[in-house]
Amino acid sequence: MRILIIGSGGREHALAAVIAKSKKATELFCIGHNAGIASLTTMVSIPLCDHNGIAEFAVQHAIEFAVIGPDEALVGGLADVLEAQGIPCFGPTKVASQLEGSKSYAKAFMVRNHIPTPSYEVFTDIVTAREHLSRSSFPLVVKADGLALGKGVVIAETIEEAEEALQAMMVEKVFASSGQTVVIEEFVSGPEVSLLVLSDGTHVKPLVSCMDHKRAFDGDQGPNTGGMGVIAPNPFYSEQVAAECMESIVLPTIAALKRDGSPFVGCLFFGLMLTSGGPVVIEYNCRFGDPEAEVALTLLEGDALEILLSCRNGTLDRVPVVSRKESACSVTLASGGYPVRYEKGKVITISDLPQNTTVYHGGTTYDEQGNLVTDGGRVLHVVGTGDTLAKAIHVAYKAVDAVTYEGKQYRRDIGKRALQEEEHGSSCIHNP
Ligand code: AMP
Ligand code: GLY
Repeated sequence: MRILIIGSGGREHALAAVIAKSKKATELFCIGHNAGIASLTTMVSIPLCDHNGIAEFAVQHAIEFAVIGPDEALVGGLADVLEAQGIPCFGPTKVASQLEGSKSYAKAFMVRNHIPTPSYEVFTDIVTAREHLSRSSFPLVVKADGLALGKGVVIAETIEEAEEALQAMMVEKVFASSGQTVVIEEFVSGPEVSLLVLSDGTHVKPLVSCMDHKRAFDGDQGPNTGGMGVIAPNPFYSEQVAAECMESIVLPTIAALKRDGSPFVGCLFFGLMLTSGGPVVIEYNCRFGDPEAEVALTLLEGDALEILLSCRNGTLDRVPVVSRKESACSVTLASGGYPVRYEKGKVITISDLPQNTTVYHGGTTYDEQGNLVTDGGRVLHVVGTGDTLAKAIHVAYKAVDAVTYEGKQYRRDIGKRALQEEEHGSSCIHNP
């Protein structure tokens, strides 16, 4: 089978790696640039926003299945364009992707379907939004409605901070049209869980639960990033919590999308917060998380291509989706200065990697001399696995030491909070 992967970050490297292992996969192509993915596929340079160009390539190369990674492509409707050309896709339609593409749409969807989520109001003009602030208590959360590279959420401790966020989004338009509409949301707290769920539109199969580390620096300090590391399984996501989330959040979401005439085919990412009042949805993403995919796919057993195909073909109920009973830890190696300003082109060396580790490339390329060099903010995702979380973390950090380049920046505390939870338990979670 001839497969096209769309997107070229760490998530797509993990997708390419598991798909390449399938006996069914005969030839792999990938849209984008990435030295790691280039070792597994033929890379093709077409801009991700050129949907017709991608469809034309897919038709010309007799692609039999396309796997779409990035949110912009899905929210922009790439799956619809490819399907219209007869190319079966893993990835939701433009309408189903609105759950990620518009926060106000997602919030209205949840309220309509009684899916627990923090209370909110939507504003399209700054005067009314400011009036709302003057009546609110703090902290509260200001969110740009559209896609904003994970930077469109401001937790405002004071009215001044909230007004500043409104000014930036609605007047200075730092997120362009994504900030024209703003959601102002109740602030909630509790451990967060990234839950990736595969769906064929009707059936659902969850992957291993993950814990992301979004802030740039140790101790959850510094700006938000695309993700500086992940561990799985998430110790806060006990069997009891999982059962509650399936019943009150996951199944109602998939059923409502189907009822609305936009069944979800692909990976739906639930950003959950386990509050003292029970689990709530903080956000939906219409795709695999990055770097959640790197750990969830590493731990996935069986033929990943068969599983992805069954989502497209409505037969997910017939395919086992089982995660290895192990732990995994992914540490993101970023460029010095990420996420603000960073240089590219630093030569990377990877010496002997310890056993039970995998390195997925995020932003890498080869320079004119043939050296592997940095080519983005998040450069590599170093994944370790082990039969305990402590071992997975240990081996991941050993592998981190095997990688060198100038300015290598990473967090030293990935998994620390999860380990504390494993050792001491937590009293802050709701018991259903
Ligand atoms: P999002 O992009 O919506 O996932 O938001 C990014 C991060 O902001 C989340 O992972 C949370 O840590 C935080 N966040 C978002 N919404 C809320 C909320 N209503 N209350 C508290 N924290 C939030
Ligand atoms: N790691 C969070 C995301 O992919 O949005």
